[in-house]
Amino acid sequence: MDCGPARRGGSRAQGTPYVERFVPYTDDRRQLTKDTILVTGGAGFIGSNFVLNWMKAVGSPVVNVDLLTYAGNAANLASLNGEGRHELVRCDICDAETVGQLLHKHQPRAMVHFAAESHVDRSIASPGEFIRTNVHGTFVLLDQAKRYWLELSAADREVFRFLHVSTDEVYGTLGADDPAFSETTAYAPNSPYAASKAASDHLVRAYHHTFGLPVLTTNCSNNYGPYQFPEKLIPLMILNALEGKPLPIYGDGKNVRDWLFVEDHCSAIRTVLERGRVGETYNIGGNSERANIDVVTTICDLVDEMRPRNGGGARRGLITYVQDRPGHDRRYAINASKISRELGWRPAEKFESGLRKTVRWYLENGEWVDGVRTGAYREWMERNYGERKEL
Ligand code: NAD
Ligand code: DAU
Repeated sequence: MDCGPARRGGSRAQGTPYVERFVPYTDDRRQLTKDTILVTGGAGFIGSNFVLNWMKAVGSPVVNVDLLTYAGNAANLASLNGEGRHELVRCDICDAETVGQLLHKHQPRAMVHFAAESHVDRSIASPGEFIRTNVHGTFVLLDQAKRYWLELSAADREVFRFLHVSTDEVYGTLGADDPAFSETTAYAPNSPYAASKAASDHLVRAYHHTFGLPVLTTNCSNNYGPYQFPEKLIPLMILNALEGKPLPIYGDGKNVRDWLFVEDHCSAIRTVLERGRVGETYNIGGNSERANIDVVTTICDLVDEMRPRNGGGARRGLITYVQDRPGHDRRYAINASKISRELGWRPAEKFESGLRKTVRWYLENGEWVDGVRTGAYREWMERNYGERKEL
């Protein structure tokens, strides 16, 4: 396995101006002896948005640890080429020795853990990789973080945080009239993906409770935006609509998800990292519940508007109902009042404007799209959709 630097920049030049100096967790600036953060999974969809966002909003150095699986893409970070404050290291989070060495070398003041297998359909087709990365990988990171943290000075120990990025899927599914998930909703994960994330959340909690590791956990709803791998609903439908292919809706299309623009998720994570109470979990959501069929018809209309079809008719005509996902959760909804009340965070983007920006991004970034739709991607599409009967 290649665990060397994927792209090496020099160390940050002395005096490099920061856009905004980020002062974490304390008003006493004298306590800060470290400013690097270590991000895992920072070449994936949310992770790469987070790193790009962090560079603009904060600007302190980022060590980005990513295995570059099918979902990880160094091209997401191309705008940081030559940026000495970002270093992408190709490394498996299950590799304890290398993770330990990276912590020792870079001395981060925080770890922000995105790396995961993230697609529910893939977890149904092959669950093993989800257990390895999401459960064992999170354990390795926690264990290495604990060793590193215990060796820090008292002041640096006080400042250090391990932020675990998790999902609302750990709470299971809701009926149409059920109250939204809150931080005290009992865990009831339904897919192998959700179960692996629930297990990782429990490990994070245990490392705080037993060893005192200063952890934070966020449970977020469905993200959408630039750089999302086109196996997920929104980018898949945009690209199929653009290319005049069928739009495969699982079941009756009335499953509901709460949608959050990825930049809002990034700002929420920064907020929790800066001001979240140690040991707490924070739900993050967009207050934008939509049925899948409504999301897809909106995408069809946006693509029709931006790229009218020559004589092909409205894209809504491409909608095809197909065999449902096994164990398909009916509805997710997030009660995000805790993060709003305690930390003052709210989403900035409305679903309709965020979706418009997202459609435009995919239409304007054909090169990126071509780069991720490799042979392995086509195999997955064949495996997931090839035998799914039309309803
Ligand atoms: P993604 O699949 O787009 O990216 C995952 C990244 O992790 C990739 O860059 C991949 O290369 C890397 N990775 C996978 N296995 C690894 C390993 N063993 N070692 C190192 N790196 C590895 O995922 P995403 O959608 O960006 O999600 C990021 C995190 O946010 C995940 O933990 C996911 O559970 C969580 N989350 C996602 C959503 C969503 O809607 N996408 C919502 C809530 C929470
Ligand atoms: O809720 C947060 C979760 O959201 C994250 O933790 C996951 O990592 C992320 O993948 C996402 O999970 P979903 O299963 O909700 O996302 P997905 O885009 O796969 O599907 C969204 C909805 O659309 C879901 O109800 C299934 C449906 N769907 C999906 C695909 C890929 C279809 O109807 N057709 C499709 O082809």
